[in-house]
Amino acid sequence: MAEIKEIKELRVEHITKRFPGVLASDDISLRVGEHEILALVGENGAGKTTLMNMIMGLYQPDEGSIFINGEQVKFKSPNDAFSAGIGMVHQQYMLVPNMTVLENVALGLKESWKTVVDLKMVRERVNQVSEHYGLAVDPDAFIWQLSVGEQQRVELVKTLCQGARFLILDEPTSALTPQETDELIVLLKRMSKELSIIFISHKLNEVKALSDKVSILRHGRVVFEGNTSDYTPKQIAALMTGHEVETTENTNAPVEGEPIFRITDLCVKSDRDFYALDHFNLDVRAGEIVGLAGVSGNGQKELAEAINGLRKVDSGKIEFFGKEIQNKTPAEVIALGMGYIPEERNIEGIVPSMSIKENMILKDSESEHFSRNHLLNHKVIEEYTDRMRDEFDIRSPNMFVAAGSLSGGNIQKVILAREIDRKPKFLVCVYPIRGLDMGAAEFIHKQLLALRERGVGILLISEELEEIMNLSDRIAVIFKGKNQSVLARNEANTSKLGILMAGVGEDDE
Ligand SMILES: Nc1ncnc2c1ncn2[C@@H]1O[C@H](COP(=O)(O)OP(=O)(O)O)[C@@H](O)[C@H]1O
Ligand SMILES: [Mg+2]
Repeated sequence: MAEIKEIKELRVEHITKRFPGVLASDDISLRVGEHEILALVGENGAGKTTLMNMIMGLYQPDEGSIFINGEQVKFKSPNDAFSAGIGMVHQQYMLVPNMTVLENVALGLKESWKTVVDLKMVRERVNQVSEHYGLAVDPDAFIWQLSVGEQQRVELVKTLCQGARFLILDEPTSALTPQETDELIVLLKRMSKELSIIFISHKLNEVKALSDKVSILRHGRVVFEGNTSDYTPKQIAALMTGHEVETTENTNAPVEGEPIFRITDLCVKSDRDFYALDHFNLDVRAGEIVGLAGVSGNGQKELAEAINGLRKVDSGKIEFFGKEIQNKTPAEVIALGMGYIPEERNIEGIVPSMSIKENMILKDSESEHFSRNHLLNHKVIEEYTDRMRDEFDIRSPNMFVAAGSLSGGNIQKVILAREIDRKPKFLVCVYPIRGLDMGAAEFIHKQLLALRERGVGILLISEELEEIMNLSDRIAVIFKGKNQSVLARNEANTSKLGILMAGVGEDDE
């Protein structure tokens, strides 16, 4: 392998990239210096990933040039970028699940070395890199056995083993738990003593904690550049969205009345056959938002699935308006008035290959309103979809494109539009703003509060403490499948919730 030179400067100049109907990059110029961390921010669809893909040689710019250390480069493929010392960790990890960590790293090296690789050498390289950067990985673990955070570490090790001197990280924290995020920030800060980094994130407190400089993209244009230390997260947010961003808050008095939804002693097994829910208890009243805080992996997934008829309940009860619904089918649960915004948008929330229009009526294709004699009434459905696109600000060329081709925020709006407009009596809402920009998050929060006003009970499962504290009437904390405690909003604060999320109960204090 050729020796990779230090990268003292990466510069892009006047880059323009057009996709059919979209100007994804509009005359973009940027510069990243040695050992510098540049945060690249902007709403979903602003053009961040497209620009990075051009730097990596995945796409070719229509116009403009890229320079490394003042010399123009033309990357025909990611291999060219790797050879120049540039590495990228994509939003979707590119690891092979049924191969080991070592084999995945070897695959990456094989591409850049273009030779057969010696696994013993690779193992040495992995150990070196993981020791040097403090990135603990088990070379013999299979990828499918690892958590999202661990997989990300493997991606980093893989990239560093290829000799990266310049790292591009595309929304690296959007799928991480708050703890994993903190660890990553510390790690990147340390790495920046040796490398330069472009860091893409929607979370402005991360941008603030990590970056030296910040550039904001909007509709494919750089609309702002500055030194991070000169601006507050709130100012960056306003520059990013083009308006003041207010947080959406529930400031209402505590909700009274009998619960409409009650879980008693629920025991549910995980896919790995241990009890993911272990005598879990919780109730929600009409017009109440109950936030369930917790580090993901503590039973949240199994809880949402059990409620929606997607997972077997071993013992215990789920009562919905006085009726027991545990072990009913999803169709029965939906018919009783349950709405569901699932964690896995592309798997459980939409059928990606179907159009927006088809996804909009997914749960109601047999309803009298949308069909007659089992034939869909396209005129009514299209009028309806048009209205939904309008009301929920779903940005797409038209309603016939595949829902899977939309950005994360817009997919979430499709799901939200469908679930809300069906007028549910209750809504289970899982990590609703994960990976979304602030504008989309604010919109979704407003919709949840509006539902609450209409008397709908909401179970809000989230890892974002700010979101939980801003929206919830009461807050429960899940740890290892048990409800640790339920607090009124005014009793809760981040440190109290953090302690409960870490599994330290009130009795232990
Ligand atoms: N391969 C592609 N084909 C067509 N349009 C694309 C493609 N990739 C991205 N786009 C469009 O380019 C714009 C910028 O997208 P992207 O770079 O992914 O934004 P961001 O990463 O900031 O969310 C969006 O309008 C998106 O729909
Ligand atoms: Mg992107």
